[in-house]
Amino acid sequence: MKRVMIVLPLSLLLAVGCSKSNDYKPGSGATGEDVFKTTCVECHQPKEGGHYFELDKAMANTTAIASKVSQGSFMMPAFPNIQAEVLQGLSEYVLSQSKTE
Ligand code: HEC
Repeated sequence: MKRVMIVLPLSLLLAVGCSKSNDYKPGSGATGEDVFKTTCVECHQPKEGGHYFELDKAMANTTAIASKVSQGSFMMPAFPNIQAEVLQGLSEYVLSQSKTE
């Protein structure tokens, strides 16, 4: 619990301080898990129970997740270099590691 409270404000700070786009480029054979553990855990730590996200209906599909990664948001950088099969694999991994409604 303590860890979550320390990590969260730090990630928010990073997100705000960062430009809108992250130029991380995965290797061609990278799996979703590789990518997530290299570049996403910095902001998305596992929650109690081991899942990373609690996704609402609108976000609980690979298309919505992929679009979040490609476009980012006000708080999250975009990852334009995560593409094609790697993006698909990453989205499936995120979905499989999430709680959905
Ligand atoms: C610099 C910090 C940061 C990094 C790095 C980051 N994210 Fe995020 N992400 C956020 C923040 C903050 C939010 C919450 C705001 C929002 O939904 O846009 C978020 C939201 C999300 C959501 C939506 C969650 C929901 O409940 O709707 C998904 C899915 C997601 N991120 C996936 C990823 C993936 C996959 C990666 C790695 C490619 C990643 N994020 C990297 C900060 C980050």
